[in-house]
Amino acid sequence: MSIPDRAQRVLPGGNTRTTLFVPPHPPYAVRGNGALITDDTGHRVIDCNNNYTSLIHGHARAEVLETAIEAARSGTAFGLPTASEVALAEHLRDRTGIEQWRFCNSGSEAVLMLLRAARAYTGRDLIIRFDGSYHGTGDALVPPEAPGLAKSVSESVLVLPQNDLAAVEKALHEHGARVAAVLIDLMPNRAGLIPADPEYVTALRNLTRQHATLLAVDEVITFRLREGGLHTDYDIQPDLVSVGKVIGGGFPVGAIGGSAEVLSPFAPTAPGAVSWGGTFSANPVTMAAGLTALQLFGATEITELNQRGDAVRARLLKADVPVRGSGSLLRLTTPNPTELWWKLYHAGVLAGTNGLLALSTAMTDAQLDQITDGVTRAFRT
Ligand SMILES: Cc1ncc(COP(=O)(O)O)c(C=O)c1O
Repeated sequence: MSIPDRAQRVLPGGNTRTTLFVPPHPPYAVRGNGALITDDTGHRVIDCNNNYTSLIHGHARAEVLETAIEAARSGTAFGLPTASEVALAEHLRDRTGIEQWRFCNSGSEAVLMLLRAARAYTGRDLIIRFDGSYHGTGDALVPPEAPGLAKSVSESVLVLPQNDLAAVEKALHEHGARVAAVLIDLMPNRAGLIPADPEYVTALRNLTRQHATLLAVDEVITFRLREGGLHTDYDIQPDLVSVGKVIGGGFPVGAIGGSAEVLSPFAPTAPGAVSWGGTFSANPVTMAAGLTALQLFGATEITELNQRGDAVRARLLKADVPVRGSGSLLRLTTPNPTELWWKLYHAGVLAGTNGLLALSTAMTDAQLDQITDGVTRAFRT
C-alpha cells in the first residue's frame, strides 16, 4: 500500500500539519541535504520552504548536526536543567539586548506563553491582535469563528484591522485599562509579507505606554531578518518578543524574551508565580543545535542572505512576477496558491503552500538562478 493510502487510514485526512497540506496530498520527503530535498518518487527540489522558514542553513549543516549529535550522545532530555539553556539564553541576550528568556517547543507555544506573561504581569485580561496575522494555533490567536473554540475565547481578545491606528486608539480609549498587551507581527506572512509602517509602529509604542499596556512583537518568522529581530529596524523597545524557528537549529523550539521585570511572574519563587512546565522545553539537543545555528548566522551572514533575497526579488519583479517581502523572505502572490505550488514543485522549487519562499545559507548562486527561473516559468505558464 502507498504511503498516502496508509496515511489516510491512520491520520485524519492523511495529515498532521494543515499548513503543509496541498490537495490531493503533498509528496513525502525522504532526504534533505543542504538546499535540496528528495521525495519518495526520487524527484529533487530546491528547498525554499525550509520547514516554514526555520532551516536557516538548509538541511544537515555539518556543524549543527555535529553539535546536536554530541548533545544527544550525552542525553536528549533530563528532569534537570542543563547549562545549554543558559548558553542559548546568554547568546539571545547578547544578540538582542533583551535581558531574559524562557524556552518552549514551538512558536505557537511561545505566543501562548507571551500572552500568559502579559496577563500575569499586568493583571489584565484583554489582548489586542491584528486581523490576518498568524501567531500559531492558540485558541485566542486563530479567527474567532474557527471551529472548535469555546465561545468565551472571543471575550479575551480584540481583533483589529492591520495598520489602522484609529482602530487601536479607539480600542485602547474604550478598554485600555483591561488590555494586557497589543500583539503585532511587523511583517506578517499571511497578510502578504508587507513590512509595517514605521510611523504606525512608533505610534503604537506610544499609545501602549500611555495605557500601561505591553507591546508584544511576534518575531517567530522575522527574527531571521536582523541580528536582534526585525523590531530593531523600528524606533521601539518591545516589552515582550516571541521567537522560534531559526533559533532551534532545525529542532522544535520557541522562546519568549523580555525584561527581568516583565518576566518576573515566571520566577518559581515569586509570590503567585506562573507555573509553566514543558517536558521537552529547553532540551539540550535543541539548545545546542540552536546555539550553533545562530553562531553561524551573525550580522555578516544575515546581511548577505538578505541581499541575495533582495536580488532574487528584483529579478522576479523585472520578469513581472508578483512578489513581496524583504531580505531572505519572499512571498509570491497568486489567486490560485495550490496550482502555483504544484507548478513550482514540478519545476524543482519547494515553496510554502501560500507562496512563501525562504532562502537558506546553503543555497548556491546557481540554485538561486534555478529558483528565479523556476518561479518565472511557473508564472508564465
Ligand atoms: C509569526 C508566527 N508566530 C507563530 C507561529 C507558530 O509557530 P509554530 O509553527 O512553531 O508553532 C508562526 C508559524 O509560522 C508564525 O509565523
